[in-house]
Amino acid sequence: MKKRLNIGLIGYRFMGKAHSNALRTIPMFFDLPVEPVLKVICGLKDDVAAAAQMYGWQRYVHDWNEVVADPEIDIVAIASPGYTHAKIAVAAAANGKHIFCEKPLGMSSDEAGVMYEAARKNKVKHMVNFNYRRIPAVLLARKLVQDGRLGRIYHFKASYQQDWAADPAVPYLWRFDQRLAGAGSVADKGSHIIDLARFLVGEMIAVAGMSDIFIKERASLGNAQLKEEVTTDDAALFVARFANGALGTFQTSRIATGYKNALQFEIGGSKGCLRFNLERLNELEAYFADEESSTQGFRRILVTGPEHEYMDRWWPPGHIIGWEHAFSHQYYEFIKAIVEDYLPQPNFYDGLINQQVIEAVERAAQEKTWVTI
Ligand SMILES: NC(=O)c1ccc[n+]([C@@H]2O[C@H](COP(=O)([O-])OP(=O)(O)OC[C@H]3O[C@@H](n4cnc5c(N)ncnc54)[C@H](O)[C@@H]3O)[C@@H](O)[C@H]2O)c1
Repeated sequence: MKKRLNIGLIGYRFMGKAHSNALRTIPMFFDLPVEPVLKVICGLKDDVAAAAQMYGWQRYVHDWNEVVADPEIDIVAIASPGYTHAKIAVAAAANGKHIFCEKPLGMSSDEAGVMYEAARKNKVKHMVNFNYRRIPAVLLARKLVQDGRLGRIYHFKASYQQDWAADPAVPYLWRFDQRLAGAGSVADKGSHIIDLARFLVGEMIAVAGMSDIFIKERASLGNAQLKEEVTTDDAALFVARFANGALGTFQTSRIATGYKNALQFEIGGSKGCLRFNLERLNELEAYFADEESSTQGFRRILVTGPEHEYMDRWWPPGHIIGWEHAFSHQYYEFIKAIVEDYLPQPNFYDGLINQQVIEAVERAAQEKTWVTI
């Protein structure tokens, strides 16, 4: 019988379901030397019981302290709002649990630093869920950059736009409260494209930007008469200088009417250009300057062949994968790192640097100036 890794998951809604799905799926597609066991799921409301049954967890609890203290648990997965991440992670690390944490890592770079130190000091494995790194088309883009196919990188342009908050009638959720979410679109959406910028192009050294709250108050959840003040940004724009000299432009929004989950980026270099759009995540568009001119142009690469990262574990070429598959890839990498005893990426260090960039953007927006990272 395979050795078992017992998992405790905090949060059972959006991300809780995505994590549960990944954990249930990987043993079927990836050859793991251990068996991940869905031991305990935690959530505040009573419907955690129904979620536990539906997602296949052995039991449920309402208090995360029980999960981090449980001697049976090997991995604590954190899929609850930002303000809970640090205290759960620090307690889990102190009890020797490996930690898989949602993004952004903490509420501030100070908190992220404390989390990183706690994980390091207690020698546990840690990962932050920048899941878009694990999309095969994104990994192909990274390979092409690293192989020099784009030449010197001049431009990185990224936007992450959604419209779930565009309707002023959307009630007040934890995401609108700075004390619970840390920041708004710049942290929620921005953390993903900042991570991709670091993954694909390298570190950023300075930023300038602006942000705004367009819908200043929203009706309280469950009491439409009561209005609550929105304290996190709806949208942000920023520019960055990379350490390698490249120029970056970034846009984040949760009120971008018409855009559902549009994470887009372009990488432009002296020898080529790549374009990616999450809403067509099996594809990468590429232009190479050295191709024969009469047929030259952007072309669409369908990134579903056995030579593409992870794709040989799923389906035959052309049988496309979806958004949720990146979560399976991420958990696969995390479990492999635990079994083979190395630090996986992206880890809490990446979460910390990411948070420093977010804070620099917020400061730049407040002070209307460039901020060095
Ligand atoms: N990687 C991604 O693509 C992605 C996408 C969405 C959200 N997220 C991140 O995932 C996290 C959760 O977001 P979500 O959209 O799933 O939120 P959600 O509101 O859908 O769910 C939050 C869950 O946390 C639980 N919870 C809240 N406070 C708790 C506490 N004190 N103790 C125990 N459980 C508690 C709730 O019961 C609920 O199940 C956030 O950090 C968010 O930024 C990541």
